[in-house]
Amino acid sequence: MPTTTPSNAPERPFERLAVIGAGNMGSGIAQKMATEGFAVTLVDLDDDKVAHGVGIIRKTLEDGVARGIFAATDVAAILQRVTGTSRFEELAGVDLVVEAVFENLDIKKDVFRRLDDVCRRDTILATNTSSYAVTDLGAATKHPERVIGLHYFYHPAKNRLVEVVAGRASDSAAVRRAWRLQEALGKTPIASSDSYGFIVNRFFLPWLTEAIRMLEEGVATPVTIDEAAKKAFGIGMGPFELMNVTGVPIALHAATTLGRAFGPLYEPPARLRSQTESGQPWHIAGTPDESRFAVVADRLAVAACYVAAALVDEGVGTIEDTDIGARVGLRWRRGPFELMNHYGIGRANDLVAGFAAQWKLPMPATLSRQAASGRPFRFALVRSEKSGNIATLTINRPDAMNAINEDVISQLEESFANAAADPDVKGIVIAGSGKAFVAGADIRYFVRHIEAGTIGTIADFTKRAQTLLRAIETCPKPVVARLHGLALGGGVELALACHVIVATPKASLAFPETGIGIYPGLGGTQRTPRRVGTGLAKWLILSGQTVGAEEALTIGLIDRVVPYERLDATIAAVIAAGPGSRTRSAKVSESHRTIAAFFDTNSVATLLSADTPATDARVAKAVKRITSKAPIALRLAAELIEKSTTVSIEQGLELELSHLDEIFASKDAYEGLSSLGRRQPAFTGK
Ligand SMILES: NC(=O)c1ccc[n+]([C@@H]2O[C@H](COP(=O)([O-])OP(=O)(O)OC[C@H]3O[C@@H](n4cnc5c(N)ncnc54)[C@H](O)[C@@H]3O)[C@@H](O)[C@H]2O)c1
Repeated sequence: MPTTTPSNAPERPFERLAVIGAGNMGSGIAQKMATEGFAVTLVDLDDDKVAHGVGIIRKTLEDGVARGIFAATDVAAILQRVTGTSRFEELAGVDLVVEAVFENLDIKKDVFRRLDDVCRRDTILATNTSSYAVTDLGAATKHPERVIGLHYFYHPAKNRLVEVVAGRASDSAAVRRAWRLQEALGKTPIASSDSYGFIVNRFFLPWLTEAIRMLEEGVATPVTIDEAAKKAFGIGMGPFELMNVTGVPIALHAATTLGRAFGPLYEPPARLRSQTESGQPWHIAGTPDESRFAVVADRLAVAACYVAAALVDEGVGTIEDTDIGARVGLRWRRGPFELMNHYGIGRANDLVAGFAAQWKLPMPATLSRQAASGRPFRFALVRSEKSGNIATLTINRPDAMNAINEDVISQLEESFANAAADPDVKGIVIAGSGKAFVAGADIRYFVRHIEAGTIGTIADFTKRAQTLLRAIETCPKPVVARLHGLALGGGVELALACHVIVATPKASLAFPETGIGIYPGLGGTQRTPRRVGTGLAKWLILSGQTVGAEEALTIGLIDRVVPYERLDATIAAVIAAGPGSRTRSAKVSESHRTIAAFFDTNSVATLLSADTPATDARVAKAVKRITSKAPIALRLAAELIEKSTTVSIEQGLELELSHLDEIFASKDAYEGLSSLGRRQPAFTGK
């Protein structure tokens, strides 16, 4: 999130969006907006071009149907939300416009002038430019404060990354609103300053041109370089194949722009010029020479690492956003800063120093300082922001859906303690970045410790996380969970420890634990029944049933559901109302009463026996789901939930801890945890 000072006043909701330019990027951006439920106007020069853009959307969606991503009925509904036009006058009522016309400064400036004339004063005007300054485009308008950058990546309906760029004149409130809209669109925003190439292209381009220089120097052939890159960066295409797919001239254009801004390192190598002039793609044939893989991988990595450290020095982006950009936007296994940690900070420093000397460039202080400390880069996985008297702690691992691990817990402990102790802070908000709130705990961590025979470490971690959640629960200041997306397992437990849970209609909650051989151990078996009763708690925890925000509100699992645009204002109002302002509006329906009664009267053994008398369709569905779960986990979870009515919360948490050894030592826990995402686990009850 950009370092702006958010006000908590209600914001005008985004209802109508527009995209100018119905080409490759514009059509994809419009597709994503419509898919997420927004009405979008797609504008191009004439009706044929508009129709072509709508045709691209239709084709992409139909491919999605063929691959099982969309239902045919979704396609019709999505397309219905897209209106095409060639008349700018039709944009008078839109709330945000993304410009994605040809990469030509005069054309873009003309588009911004026209938008400035026809759009409301509070309409945000965003550019998707790859190579021009947002500030220059803003200067073409009478209201540069509403002009920002939203730089998407191809394919913009599939690639989650978006760089949110503040120009020099951009209003921080406009930047923040646009950022929030990206989250509502399911995007992963990162914040970049208005610098050529922003964050990702700034280091990606030198990575590409380093590949070309290796070819020029005879270090390796294109096929060797591509294969080495695929292996080292965990990507599907190497630099030469990528250039062939996106167009060799685009690489030349981008390198020319960056070269002009930043000097020789960024300029296009001669081979890139001659290849572009030939009009031919790169010739990638032959057998890769594996003996060259290491040298190729190092050279590619070092070029990217040098530039990444330099751009952080310049304040273009943070180390976290640079790495997120690499992982999400380019799909690299590791971002440049993780790569440097992987090399070892001392060796990374030596390699990058050699590279800087070769180009007669200064050594980036970001890296030399880190190397002098002898410690690896430490990533801020929890972002703390203070706005007025509210502290917001945002878990920032968007590409891991903010899964909780040891580092997250220790950083959350620290930032929570600081916020709780800060006399200016009247309330604390716990949030997640990107699409999800928090999707549980890091499963690989559990698998690693089971394999290493160090289950005690899992128990220590669980106890520590429980202690943090208890500190949240007992904090004298109001603590609010900001649920704008998915909450799973540990994420639900984190939210339940907060005093109030405020969600958007897109939020959903589920306990998947018993399906992976374990039970919720961060208070889930204790706080859930305290909120919804034992019957519904069993339904949720034993069956793993996902509940949407509205249903969660109905049963009292969460406290408020408000549209995305009102989320922060509602949270601010809850905090202003002070501790004890929780307003549970549980109006448990007849159907939920039936479910609760069923789970309160039937034991796990009965549920697992073939002849459970399921009277209700939802009960029958839950029972069916339960038969695929791990029996030991089911039994322990049910026992813990039942005990919640007779013990204090502290005793209940102790009970959760007391069964950890048993559950993590079970064959089913290992089977469930290690099969996740790969195959259906086969539980044996052992
Ligand atoms: N292609 C990528 O991978 C990529 C990635 C990020 C950003 N971008 C940027 O996105 C923008 C668009 O790129 P693209 O690849 O979609 O280009 P494109 O050529 O596919 O599409 C551009 C569209 O804009 C339309 N257009 C031109 N002038 C217009 C005007 N005055 N009014 C309305 N429509 C107009 C064109 O008719 C065309 O349909 C560029 O600024 C580009 O740098 C591209």
